[in-house]
Amino acid sequence: METLLPALRPPAEGAVDPARLMPDAREAWLEVGFGGGEHMAAQAAVHPDVLVLGAEPFLNGVASALRHVDAGALRNVRIHDGDARDLMARLPAASLDRLFVLFPDPWQKARHHKRRLVNTAFSAEAARLLKPGGRLRLATDWADYADQILKVMLAEPRLQWTAQCAGDWRRPPADHVRTRYESKRLGDCDPVWLDFIRGPDPTPGAALRPSPGRPPAPPGDHA
Ligand SMILES: C[S@@+](CC[C@H](N)C(=O)[O-])C[C@H]1O[C@@H](n2cnc3c(N)ncnc32)[C@H](O)[C@@H]1O
Repeated sequence: METLLPALRPPAEGAVDPARLMPDAREAWLEVGFGGGEHMAAQAAVHPDVLVLGAEPFLNGVASALRHVDAGALRNVRIHDGDARDLMARLPAASLDRLFVLFPDPWQKARHHKRRLVNTAFSAEAARLLKPGGRLRLATDWADYADQILKVMLAEPRLQWTAQCAGDWRRPPADHVRTRYESKRLGDCDPVWLDFIRGPDPTPGAALRPSPGRPPAPPGDHA
């Protein structure tokens, strides 16, 4: 922790340009709230030519992630040990190819819903950061959070939901790596997988409409 973490931290102040963190990287990805870092490390190991940024304020999670980075001799991981929103605010627009938010804290009680990470401000920030064609993956196993996520994401005109059929949100995507939280099955529904693509900026004045191929109804039945 004392030696590896300082070496992996992005600069403490100012803009954080992924292109400077790993100049030869083919792409830049960010995982928000990586927990124990299993998914982040596994993706980094499979994609050594991709810069994988991770943000997580939970100290034990960061320590676990560092163990994965060390064990895998991963050279393409950088860790922000703090609030992901602080890091995101310092990233340039259109600087990320992929963004993962896997099983964000559910904050189950209705009076705590305002603490949920995925809200309108978050969807706007995700749209700002993703390159055109960049991809966002969200997952949750709490039914009303899935509904909330879908609602705020569908209201963001720069993000297009990729699902074509129920199987697309019910089955883990082919490139998914199971996370520790996911394995615990603490939620009230099966995991829901919501993948989005960053589309072009909307034409000023154009009416919002669903993207072609979008299923007609949100995944209200999550089981
Ligand atoms: C339910 S856990 C899931 C962890 C991991 N993604 C997994 O699936 O195993 C949610 C994680 O998000 C982290 N988290 C909460 N708020 C955050 C924030 N603002 N920025 C970054 N991480 C955050 C928590 O510390 C926690 O580790």
